[in-house]
Parts: sequence; C-alpha cells; structure tokens
Amino acid sequence: MKILEVKDYQQMSNKAAEYIIEKVIRFPSIKLGLATGGTPIGTYKKLIEDHQKNGTSYRRVTTFNLDEYIGLSEENKNSYRYYMNENLFNHIDIEKSRTFIPRGDVDDIQKESLYYEDLIAKHSGIDLQVLGIGSNGHIGFNEPGTLFESSTHIVNLAPSTIQANARFFNRVKEVPTKAITMGIATIMKSKEILLLISGEEKRETLFRLLNGDVNIGFPASVLKNHPFVTIIADEAAVKDI
Ligand code: GLP
Repeated sequence: MKILEVKDYQQMSNKAAEYIIEKVIRFPSIKLGLATGGTPIGTYKKLIEDHQKNGTSYRRVTTFNLDEYIGLSEENKNSYRYYMNENLFNHIDIEKSRTFIPRGDVDDIQKESLYYEDLIAKHSGIDLQVLGIGSNGHIGFNEPGTLFESSTHIVNLAPSTIQANARFFNRVKEVPTKAITMGIATIMKSKEILLLISGEEKRETLFRLLNGDVNIGFPASVLKNHPFVTIIADEAAVKDI
C-alpha cells in the first residue's frame, strides 16, 4: 500500500480528483467503483468543477457503486442512488444507464446480489475502486467478521455504523439496519484501489490499518493483500502514526 500524505480534507479531495481525472483522460472507457459517505463528497465536487472548467468527459465511463441501503427507493434522499445523482451524476456528462448501484428496494435482494456481482463480471471488472473506510474498518458495508471470500451480499449493519450514519437522517431510528454491498472479494478483484481517509476520528482506524495484521475482524486489512492500493490521508488522520 502506498500512502500519500496531504494537509487537509480539501487537499485530499483535490489529490483524489486529480488521480481520477488523469485515469479518465487516459482511459475514457474506464470502469470506476464509487463510494458514498462524507469522505468522497469533496472529491466529487472537484470532479464536477473540473468537468465544467476543463470539459473532462465521462460519456464513456461506467460506474459501479459499492452499496445501498435495503428498503430505500431511489427517490429517497438517503438512498445512495440519490446521493450519487445529487453529488456527481447530475452534474457531469455521464450516461445514467452506465451508472450502476445495487437496488435496495427490490423484492428479491438475494437475486439482486447475484445479478450485481454478475453485472460487474460481465463488464470485466472494475479498473479503479474508490473507497472510504468506517471507523471499525468496514469497506463498502462489509462489517467486521465478513469473510474475505464474500461476493455481493446482504448485511446487518453494525450498531456503530448505524450510529455513525445517523447524521444523514432525521433520527437514528430511520437508518436502515440492512444493506446490500459488494463483497470483500468483489472489491479485491478491482485492478486498482484508491482509499481516502480524513480527520482525527479516523486516526485510530488508519493506525490499525497500517500497523495491524490481516484479519477479518478489521475488514480493510485485506487491502494489504492487494497489489495496487493508494491511500490518500490527511494530516489529522496520519498524525503520530
Ligand atoms: C458508510 C459507507 C462506506 C463509507 C463509510 C465511511 O457506511 N457504506 O462506503 O466508506 O461509511 O463513511 P464516511 O466517509 O462518512 O466516514
């Protein structure tokens, strides 16, 4: 894992956006894996700014998002589809039909999991997967204890994840308790991974990632087994490591 240290959230966002833009320009048909949460919002903002200013085109880009809450429709403001439309897709020239996010509002989520996994495989996999990280080391919604062999599946969210994500909802009770997520094996099949970590509250998480061993109790530790991972972390997260 290569780690790039930057000053703050803004710098992390700039660097991550530059990284992605460079790939999109070199490989216009790139397949990007995208993440939600607070961390990548600044990166998406920079992508939009660059698209408006420099005209970087996403017309041939395909995207796969990591996860979605179960029970939220695409129109629900807290669904990850809504988040992606609002924070990125509506503001760039991407073909909406090439933006994929697992559906959390279908009757047969099991079937949706198989379908999504298959869909990624049919597109010959993800070239660059952008990741954030949960405080407990979750990637996508793969909570501690998830098997490294897992493909797209249904998860019960950890109480700490529900608590952490409650800030996006009116009340903690509104946060769904289940989600559909790419599995750890799905993520690991990506050719390249870009992990973004910002803020003091992620310091211990980054410390565990860099200094701990590889084990399922801390899902992100699996990234140490991936040949091409770049971490962009800001000073607050890196401090004293
Ligand atoms: C969520 C998402 C993850 C994200 C993580 C961290 O639960 N499913 O993909 O990386 O939490 O979120 P944040 O960036 O808001 O700290």
